[in-house]
Amino acid sequence: MSKTVTAKAHTNIALVKYWGKRDATLMLPQTGSISLTLDHFYTQTQVRFNDQLPTDQITFNGTRLAAPQAQRISTFLDLIRQQSGQTAAAEVVTTNHVPTSAGLASSASGFAALAAAASRAAGMTLTPTELSRLARRGSGSATRSIFGGFVEWHAGHDDQSSYAEPLQDPVDWDIQMIAVVLKKSPKPISSTAGMARVVATSPYYPAWIETTKHDLTAMRAAISARDLEAVGTIAERSAMRMHALNLSAEPAFTYFTADTLTAINTVKDLRARGINCYYTLDAGPNVKIICAGRDTTVITTALKQAFAAEQLIVAKPGPGITVTEDASIE
Ligand code: DP6
Repeated sequence: MSKTVTAKAHTNIALVKYWGKRDATLMLPQTGSISLTLDHFYTQTQVRFNDQLPTDQITFNGTRLAAPQAQRISTFLDLIRQQSGQTAAAEVVTTNHVPTSAGLASSASGFAALAAAASRAAGMTLTPTELSRLARRGSGSATRSIFGGFVEWHAGHDDQSSYAEPLQDPVDWDIQMIAVVLKKSPKPISSTAGMARVVATSPYYPAWIETTKHDLTAMRAAISARDLEAVGTIAERSAMRMHALNLSAEPAFTYFTADTLTAINTVKDLRARGINCYYTLDAGPNVKIICAGRDTTVITTALKQAFAAEQLIVAKPGPGITVTEDASIE
């Protein structure tokens, strides 16, 4: 029986988006990306390898996952077994600390926590960079959740060169995010499949690669200048261009719902009133609003005209991954 290891990883929201792979096996992205790790949402995962088990046993938020759902996790554990020489099946217990049904449950914090806990339980000692490269094989956005604060994932050109590193941590200025958790609608397409379709069919994809290069340079400068307006402006245009790619794919798709547009319009109205706030969206309807902490009250007050208080969650910059070994749990 191996030691029991617990890891805690926070989710991150991309400010310059990752939207497309150039190698789906190695999980190499088409472009780099920049994110902010958040304090409010995280995943805690405990792993131990147990040679008495016939197959991996995965419990997610208190429920044992059936084989099809567990497949992506077991495939990732196979990679760790291959790299470490560990041969036993694993017991994995994972909890997502995200308000239930928020739809913010993220493969980013999930695979980052799993990479850290499982690699250590398998006897590997990895540097943060090596951990970032390993987490990448589980989910692209997990590459960045190893680190806290502002993080850049370098696209790289092979397994060695594609990893994330912190740009600014701790974040010593006033920037926060308000997550607007919207009514769930059936997800039109997973992020993995959506981005693959975009790369294969959008005639605008070459322009995305070009503009993302500029956005990365501009975002690095904006973060280092602690310039909220610049960070927000670049984040908003990166998100809108990503969603425009989806509309230009064949067949076209979108994650926007009517509520998404309501939230976006509220942000635009607030901005017209002189409040510095910007929106970003990922592969789902929820809107995340980038703003200063001092403006969160006026922004949430405006949002409450259309949404319930429980739908609004304020998050601050969050920390990098933590790992603890627990010899006592047998
Ligand atoms: C819109 O990391 O979920 O959130 O690598 O296929 O697991 P896979 O995709 P995933 O995609 C995240 C896409 C995004 C943008 C981002 O986080 O950069």
